[in-house]
Amino acid sequence: MGREIATVGVVGLGTMGAGIAEVLARNGLRVHAVEVDDAALNRGRAHVAHSTRRAIAKGKLTAEDAAALLDRIQYNTVDLADLAAADFVIEAIPERLELKRELFKRLDGICSDETIFATNTSSLSVTEISVATSRPSRVVGLHFFNPAPVMKLVEVVRTVVTDPGVLADVEALAERLGKSPVTIGDKAGFIANALLFGYLNHAASLYEAKYATREDIDAAMRLGCGLPMGPLALIDLIGLDTAYEILDTMYKQSRTGCTPRRRSSSR
Ligand SMILES: NC(=O)c1ccc[n+]([C@@H]2O[C@H](COP(=O)([O-])OP(=O)(O)OC[C@H]3O[C@@H](n4cnc5c(N)ncnc54)[C@H](O)[C@@H]3O)[C@@H](O)[C@H]2O)c1
Repeated sequence: MGREIATVGVVGLGTMGAGIAEVLARNGLRVHAVEVDDAALNRGRAHVAHSTRRAIAKGKLTAEDAAALLDRIQYNTVDLADLAAADFVIEAIPERLELKRELFKRLDGICSDETIFATNTSSLSVTEISVATSRPSRVVGLHFFNPAPVMKLVEVVRTVVTDPGVLADVEALAERLGKSPVTIGDKAGFIANALLFGYLNHAASLYEAKYATREDIDAAMRLGCGLPMGPLALIDLIGLDTAYEILDTMYKQSRTGCTPRRRSSSR
């Protein structure tokens, strides 16, 4: 085992990053949150505050624990240099390879050689992201699901050069967060999205072909198949841009399966 992970950086506080920061802080880690500007940082802060208020209202968190959680997250920066002391940095910036490679290249020059880097990518190659740094063996995928504070699964993605000690540390971190880690190789879509997105894309095709209304498509899967939400509602929860990028990457990597629907709203 390597050193214990105590201080973490979260880069990007959108839908996923805010949830990931919340989960980390809830489980006792000190979090440095980084965004592109103060407005985005404030949106991320509001997202975490809203989510913790909901957890209190549902009886899942005491007011005291919520206050301690919020205290552990520092939002006072848009500067990556503040991540110099982090043991572990996870990014949840938009699903674009060049953005993620550029980010890790910069972090590589700021953080200690020991720092572990994780990407929350849904479908991009962790290998291609890792080689933008001088430490590919210390870069993994750590794929949370939406909403991150609630969903139990995390996919831990190893590349062919991932250090086994790093993998063990990241799996231990996931368990500390109360998650159930599944460790897998680096293949577009990993397990869950590789299976899920063909289905979501097919739902969008049925709607596009005017075969059924959006309400009926969602009702069929909720009431007929027992799923908690229908596919079109789920695409909206994921976000159309993110869903498009995931399908596009999976298609480019495999040239099989599903062609992404164009970026028109399903709603
Ligand atoms: N949305 C989902 O359901 C979901 C689920 C699992 C994984 N993911 C993955 O998580 C990642 C983020 O997705 P999201 O839905 O949270 O996106 P989002 O658009 O909600 O959030 C991205 C955030 O990153 C910030 N950002 C952009 N560039 C940055 C930079 N250089 N430095 C710091 N911050 C930066 C943006 O301001 C924005 O707040 C993507 O890789 C996506 O594939 C998304």
